Amino acid sequence: MKKIAVIGTGYVGLVTGVALAEVGHTVTCIDIDEEKVKQLQAGHSPIYEAGLEDMLSKNISNKRLFNTTSYEEGCRNADAIYVAVGTPENADGTADLRFVEAVVRELAEVLQEETVLVTKSTVPVGTNDWMQSLMASLTDVPVHAVSNPEFLKEGTALKDAFNGDRIVIGSDHGPAGELVEEINRPFGIPVYHTDIRSAEMIKYAANAFLATKISYINEIANLCELLGANVEDVADGMGMDPRIGRSFLNAGIGYGGSCFPKDTKALVNMADQAGHNFGILDEVVLVNRKQRLKLFEKAKHRLGSLKGKNIAVLGLSFKPNTDDMREAASLAIIEELILAGATVTAFDPIAMPNAKDILPEAIYYADSSNEALQHADAAFLLTEWDEITSLPLTDIKQLMASPILFDGRNCYDPDEAERIGIEYYSIGRQDISPAAERV
Ligand code: UDX
Repeated sequence: MKKIAVIGTGYVGLVTGVALAEVGHTVTCIDIDEEKVKQLQAGHSPIYEAGLEDMLSKNISNKRLFNTTSYEEGCRNADAIYVAVGTPENADGTADLRFVEAVVRELAEVLQEETVLVTKSTVPVGTNDWMQSLMASLTDVPVHAVSNPEFLKEGTALKDAFNGDRIVIGSDHGPAGELVEEINRPFGIPVYHTDIRSAEMIKYAANAFLATKISYINEIANLCELLGANVEDVADGMGMDPRIGRSFLNAGIGYGGSCFPKDTKALVNMADQAGHNFGILDEVVLVNRKQRLKLFEKAKHRLGSLKGKNIAVLGLSFKPNTDDMREAASLAIIEELILAGATVTAFDPIAMPNAKDILPEAIYYADSSNEALQHADAAFLLTEWDEITSLPLTDIKQLMASPILFDGRNCYDPDEAERIGIEYYSIGRQDISPAAERV
């Protein structure tokens, strides 16, 4: 078993550190945020992720996981140093490498002996080479960069860490790549070795492809509405072809989160800088932006003015089982609702504290879906939490002042809504509107 330092305790860093400790390595997580480190030392996870806090505190008690703000303490005698700091989006869509650069500069100050630097952060192609040359300009200690991109999904991050489809190891230095393979052996996940630049590209290419699948099915959904087809049936029928596959063909209000929006734009920029026009991906990004407001437009069309209307919003996070609000479709939709003069009452099982930090102050928060729905003139279902989608349509009808449901995740059966007497608008399926208006 190895001694490992992990720099950055965001989603990727924390999950990586905890998982590596769980399989037996001795791990020290380093973060410059003192408050966060104190919280972690006490065994508390700063993010909501199933099973993470239990595994974190267990490995702290086992003395396999340590947390510190000190690079020197964390990197002393480490066999490998993982870099898992954020690479947020610059205003022009490129990846901001400020934190990666800061890590290299800090490390150059403390490294004493030959080291392997394992880059988990999603970084543009060529960044690991740049990190290596920056390091070489700052210290004589040999440092071998290995690109080891992370494919975890929020909400199932721990499960993904132990059951991933592949571990990609990009290295131009044989022993460094072998060390990373050895570190990962206990996970029993297939390893794919390649050069550094291809590994960096695999991450962007995979995320952009999945985003493309989503924008594609959303455009098919928009066409289904115009031509009278049902996108759920279309996706099922397409997905039966193993070359296509059913996953990531769920039409809705577009993709959000910390990866797809940022990585698609970064790849477009990478292409631009290389003198290549990645037109398909430009469209994927544009379709996603428009898709976010599809449901709002339906509401405007149905209700006319939204001024003074009580609107319930069920679900705020960018997807279920996470408290992450980054690039959530709810942000754009709520902004439009407020601009249109609606009174918004929102509920989310976990994300409300995070939402309160970024949403306009004019919003009311309810303690439950039922409370949000009470006396509402219309409701928006934006995140498919089990707790929300298990609400019987009969209850929804009974609670609301007028039972009009705009479902951004296609959670209910339109025929059932019609039977129960709810006006029901979803994505890529027949709308259940008042009989007089129906075509
Ligand atoms: C994604 C990748 O899946 C993961 O491999 C990578 O490491 C990070 O980015 P994540 O952002 O956690 O993971 O969420 P994911 O489950 O992929 O969903 C992303 C967004 O796409 C969500 O907003 C989700 O609602 C949306 N989505 C997903 C759809 O709209 N339709 C689908 O069929 C699938």
